[in-house]
Amino acid sequence: MRICFVGTGYVGLVTGTCFAEKGNDVCCVDIDKKRIEDLNSGIIPIYEPGLEELVKKNREAGRLSFSAEIKEGLEHAQLCFIAVGTPPSSNGSADLAQVLNALDSIGSCIDHSCFIVVKSTVPVGTGTLLWKRIRAHMHERGLEKINLEVLSNPEFLKEGMAIEDCLNPDRVVVGAVSDEARSVMRELYAPFVPEDRLLLMDPSSAEITKYAANAMLASRISFMNEIAQLCDKIGADVLSVKEGIASDRRIGSFFLNAGCGYGGSCFPKDVQALCHIGEGQGLDMTMATAIDKVNRKQKELLQLMVRERFGSDMEGLTIAVMGLAFKPHTDDIREAPSISLIRGLIDCGASVRAYDPIAMGQAAIMLPKDVRFADGIEKLLEGADAAVLVTEWPEFRSLDWDSLAPHMKRRIVFDGRNIYDPAEMIDKGFEYYCIGRNCRPQMQFGSSECAKKINNKQGRI
Ligand SMILES: NC(=O)c1ccc[n+]([C@@H]2O[C@H](COP(=O)([O-])OP(=O)(O)OC[C@H]3O[C@@H](n4cnc5c(N)ncnc54)[C@H](O)[C@@H]3O)[C@@H](O)[C@H]2O)c1
Repeated sequence: MRICFVGTGYVGLVTGTCFAEKGNDVCCVDIDKKRIEDLNSGIIPIYEPGLEELVKKNREAGRLSFSAEIKEGLEHAQLCFIAVGTPPSSNGSADLAQVLNALDSIGSCIDHSCFIVVKSTVPVGTGTLLWKRIRAHMHERGLEKINLEVLSNPEFLKEGMAIEDCLNPDRVVVGAVSDEARSVMRELYAPFVPEDRLLLMDPSSAEITKYAANAMLASRISFMNEIAQLCDKIGADVLSVKEGIASDRRIGSFFLNAGCGYGGSCFPKDVQALCHIGEGQGLDMTMATAIDKVNRKQKELLQLMVRERFGSDMEGLTIAVMGLAFKPHTDDIREAPSISLIRGLIDCGASVRAYDPIAMGQAAIMLPKDVRFADGIEKLLEGADAAVLVTEWPEFRSLDWDSLAPHMKRRIVFDGRNIYDPAEMIDKGFEYYCIGRNCRPQMQFGSSECAKKINNKQGRI
């Protein structure tokens, strides 16, 4: 099939490339001319494992092209995907400006029948809004006979695993009304999923499914973060609690890791947008509001822990931040917990040094100029008063702390993702802080093994 993608960001580039990989003829369009120039010279604007190779392969096979001209992209297209951003507006609702601009640019030049497929995450009713708007364009241009159905096809890929998710999705959700649209989408997705995993539904259900899925996943994280706070208070270990509940097959183990909060370009904005959608219908959205509230608090936690340890005046202290991306295997730092942490530390007068295997380039654009970047873990920790782990990159899991510790000024580690063994860190002479494991050295009367060990070391028991 001939397919046009409007928006060549994370979703447009990855899904467009995967459609090309399955034999379709894909043209990805973007208003960002520099991005298109880069792509045409083989430069990939985002980090995603496997993407560079797949783009190269499909460009060479003549199935994938990039253009800044929508007219070029739309030529003979049977399907036109909209995959532009839907960032949050100031009241938390999804800002549809990019979607409406994309639709207007399609409406101003399309001259043949085509299915317009919305991949961007958009509020319920957007499909209808876009359909009315595209009809108005066609009416204005005297092209009423052209058939332009608007479909919903939300994307569920995970950054860092995006190619795998796209080529082998758990399911594909399609909101479409006509039989013709449903059968085109069946044909398009046949190489990706068996028929029973292509879920055909009405457009409103498809639109809300995306928000419900993200809110459900975010709720598991926020729930465990709340349990972690409780564990710290009562002297329990959240990892034991996780094990205890995850072994129940009805619950399972995904998205149950307590930590320093979720970030990224989707969960925070989609949970807020869901609240807004429900409130617009007169509902309280109690659950969704609580998920967001718990997460905002959790994202402050690491900073509070550092402040509790050092006081609010951190003049003269060097804090080493391990990881910047909102999660491993991506360079995306949108809403990453590292950003608010670093800003907070700088406000307290600390000198901040950071290292991330992939995301330092993106982070440098967003972070205050006085943040210094290290080109490896040794340089990061050199002379540091404390290390704060924010992103659980695999390379951080297997660090040789025995050889790194002597280079630090003080052996203090705040582990925002619970990736180290508290007992081992304490044995190595570290003051070790983590989340929900009753392992904060100030906690003198904790009853967990970890707290006992710390108290023993400090001569309290
Ligand atoms: N990033 C993810 O992991 C993910 C996963 C699932 C769904 N989504 C959703 O998919 C949508 C896109 O997300 P993203 O992360 O790819 O966004 P992005 O910001 O990475 O990319 C959007 C792209 O659209 C381009 N654009 C904006 N207006 C345009 C126009 N009028 N014409 C052509 N191009 C235009 C921008 O220049 C940019 O390159 C959002 O609604 C998001 O919520 C994202």
